[in-house]
Amino acid sequence: MSRYQQVREGLRAQPKRWLITGVAGFIGSNLLEELLRLDQTVVGLDNFATGSRRNLEEVRSLVTPLQFSRFHMIEGDVVDARLCREAVTGVDYVLHQAALGSVPRSISDPITTNLVNVEGFLKMLIASRDASVRRFVFAASSSTYGDHEASSQVEHVIGRPLSPYAVTKLINELYADVFSQIFSFHSIGLRYFNIFGRRQDPKGPYSAVIPRWMDAMIAGDVVEIFGDGEASRDFCHVSNVVQSNILAATIESSDATNQIYNVALGRSASLNELFSLIQGSLAPHCLNVKDLKPVYRGLRAGDIVRSTADISKAQRLLGYEPVCLLQAGLAETSVWYLANRARLN
Ligand SMILES: NC(=O)c1ccc[n+]([C@@H]2O[C@H](COP(=O)([O-])OP(=O)(O)OC[C@H]3O[C@@H](n4cnc5c(N)ncnc54)[C@H](O)[C@@H]3O)[C@@H](O)[C@H]2O)c1
Repeated sequence: MSRYQQVREGLRAQPKRWLITGVAGFIGSNLLEELLRLDQTVVGLDNFATGSRRNLEEVRSLVTPLQFSRFHMIEGDVVDARLCREAVTGVDYVLHQAALGSVPRSISDPITTNLVNVEGFLKMLIASRDASVRRFVFAASSSTYGDHEASSQVEHVIGRPLSPYAVTKLINELYADVFSQIFSFHSIGLRYFNIFGRRQDPKGPYSAVIPRWMDAMIAGDVVEIFGDGEASRDFCHVSNVVQSNILAATIESSDATNQIYNVALGRSASLNELFSLIQGSLAPHCLNVKDLKPVYRGLRAGDIVRSTADISKAQRLLGYEPVCLLQAGLAETSVWYLANRARLN
C-alpha cells in the first residue's frame, strides 16, 4: 500500500482540523474537496480576490451535506493578523495557498503582490507558530528557479528570480527556514510547477495557459503562443498537488520536515506539444478544434523558458507518486471546461 493510501486511511479513522488559506481558489478548492471527502474538518480563509464562491458551491455539490457541514468559511484577508489568529485556532495542519499568482500581475503591480505574498505569508506563519500547529505547508513556486538553466531542476540549486512574484515566493522559503531554525517550527514548502485542472480560472489577463487555451479552443478563438512554442514546462494535474499537500502535512520524519520539494510530474512538454494534446483532448467533443492553428507572438518578460522538475526528493522523503499524467489530466480537465463553459462566461 502506498504511503498516500495509508495516510488517507489514518485520516479517515482519526479526522483532523485543517486550515486552507486561498480555499476559494483553484488549488484551495481542490484541497477542500479532497479533505471533506476524507471526513476532515476544514476552516477556509479567503478574501475572494481571485477565487470564487462558485468554486465553493461546486465543492458543496460534490460532497455529502454532512461532509460540507464540517467546512467553516472565514471571509477576509491574510494580511489581517487578527483574522489569521482566529482562523488557525485549534488547527492541526495549515495549507497556506493564498497569494496573488501570475508573473505579469507582479510586474505591473509589485506592491500588492508583495503585500499579500510576503506580509500575508508572514502573518499566517506567525499565527501558526503561536498556535503551535503541527505543520505549516505552503505553496512555493517553480518560479524560484529563475534564470537557472538545467535539464532538470533540483531543489537546492536555484538561479536569480526573474519577476517580483518569484522574489515573493523565494522570501516565503527564507522565512520558513529561519522560523525552523529560531523557533523549531515545522514547515514544508511545495514548489508547484505549472498546475492545471478543474476550477482553474480561464478568464482575465493573468490566467494560466491550459485553461486559457481550452477556453479559447472551445470558443473557436485564437490561441496565442509566446515565443516559438519550443519553450517547455512541467505541467502537473492538481490531483498530484492535493496528494503532495496531504503527504507533507502528515509526514513525521524529521529528515522530511523543514524542507522544500518540487511538486510536478517530472517530465516536460513543449508549448507546441501541449497545443496538440489539448486539441486532441477536445477534438472528440468539438468538431472545429482539429483545424485550429496557434498564432505565435514575442516572448513575455519574466517567463522561464525551460522547466522540468526532478521529483526524486518528494518521492524519497514524502512518498509522493504522481498518479495523474499529462494526457489523462488534460482529458479530465477538458471535460470539466466543456461542462462548465456557460457558467464561466
Ligand atoms: N497554479 C499554479 O500553477 C501555481 C504554480 C506555482 C505556485 N502556485 C501557488 O499556489 C497557490 C494557489 O494558486 P492557485 O493557482 O490556486 O491560484 P488562485 O488565484 O486560484 O487561488 C489563490 C486564492 O487566494 C485567495 N487570496 C488572494 N489574496 C488573498 C488575501 N489577501 N487574503 C485571503 N485570500 C487571498 C484568492 O481569492 C484565491 O482564492 C498560490 O500561492 C500560488 O502562488 C500556483
